Amino acid sequence: MAGAEGKSRGQFTTRLGFILAAAGSAIGLGNIWKFPYLAGENGGAVFLILYLGFIFTIGISVMLAELAIGRASKKNPVGAFAHLKGGKWVAVGFMSVLTGFVILSFYSVVGGWTIAYAVKTATGLLSTTDAKAFGSTFGNFVSDPMEPLFYHGVFMALTVAVVAKGVDNGIEKTCRVLMPVLFVLLVVLCIRSLTLPGAAKGVAFFLEPDFSKINAGMVIAALGHAFFSLSLGMGAMMTYGSYLPRQTSLPGAALWVTSLDTLIAVMAGFLVLPAVFAFGFDPGAGPGLTFITLPAVFSKIPFGAFFGTLFFVLLVVAALTSAISLLEVVVAYLVDEKHIARRPAAIGAGAVIFALGIPSSLSFGIWSDVTFLGKGFFDIMDYLASNVLLPTGGILISLFVGWVVFAKVMDGDQGGIGQGFRWAKVWRIVCQYVAPAAIAWILISGF
Ligand code: TRP
Repeated sequence: MAGAEGKSRGQFTTRLGFILAAAGSAIGLGNIWKFPYLAGENGGAVFLILYLGFIFTIGISVMLAELAIGRASKKNPVGAFAHLKGGKWVAVGFMSVLTGFVILSFYSVVGGWTIAYAVKTATGLLSTTDAKAFGSTFGNFVSDPMEPLFYHGVFMALTVAVVAKGVDNGIEKTCRVLMPVLFVLLVVLCIRSLTLPGAAKGVAFFLEPDFSKINAGMVIAALGHAFFSLSLGMGAMMTYGSYLPRQTSLPGAALWVTSLDTLIAVMAGFLVLPAVFAFGFDPGAGPGLTFITLPAVFSKIPFGAFFGTLFFVLLVVAALTSAISLLEVVVAYLVDEKHIARRPAAIGAGAVIFALGIPSSLSFGIWSDVTFLGKGFFDIMDYLASNVLLPTGGILISLFVGWVVFAKVMDGDQGGIGQGFRWAKVWRIVCQYVAPAAIAWILISGF
């Protein structure tokens, strides 16, 4: 977010800069850690198809809605609703800030796992050749009460450090270099995974749908993950939109970010799932799936420890750029609306979110028997955020744009989308009816 144009509000210098930053928010643990294990748990190809379907209908519409609200208001989510309309709509902004707290609390726990795995891969994790051992390594690590908490703290501290300084040039430049490296590594690893003996079963699992097994839980999981993966439903993309220069085409930007994010998720599927079957792991293993499978893949490539460490370091960076966007929503609110200085706002919010993450971390170990409706604390936070708060935010954002401020978000002179948008009518109908009705129906049928 570079180059202060006008007053104190920063702006992206180039369209590419914005796309990389917004893609940096979208692409993260959601793509590489969460997508493969959700697909593994929810019928593979069926999940993939539902996910793609939601991304390119509801997802891209809500993405455009958020970017337009952001650029038309030039405000944080709470300020944006207040500025464009006010009244009860401001509550949607508050819900966003709350959702930011919830997501970052468990996201940071997994971010910590990633740092831990960078360290472990560099220090001998791969010295075993027995793939099954990686399962117990992961189990022992997450069930330890202190070690994951330590790394959770490190991840949170890094996020706070970046946000406290202000999201500046440094980050934009770092991402521009590192994300392409991550992409190339992903391609190489996919090739290795796809050529393992037995990989074909994983490919079939990922690409050949068996619709007889579909259930409501899968549909909700796919919808929730479409929101989570695109960073939608809680104002992160509004905040990014508020920094976009007037000339940039919003529909084009929405399409780019959506496509890049989806591409990385699908690649992660082709990396993890074939290897899961090749090594005989259980695709339904849950949140540990990626952390069990990737070391097994690294153990089968030359210089595995080197490439494995590099991969996990890059994944930490990808996770950080996402975590930054979550904390930034909270901090932008505290700075703009509560007039708290950026540094204390970032540190204070970070400390509270760290504390909220502690029970999530412990729920993989000493608190694993503390459950509610069969779910541990981590699962409850994730379910609440991804499958309830984000889709609900999506309904409200769609309705807001479709019914309340459509003229404003279309007005190019005010920072809105502008006249050239050929799909404006269709998009409005999606925002008014299709997205809210579909999301509401899916949420209700889940209960
Ligand atoms: N999309 C990110 C990922 O896939 C996570 C994320 C960042 C997010 N900001 C968000 C999710 C805002 C929901 C809302 O890892």
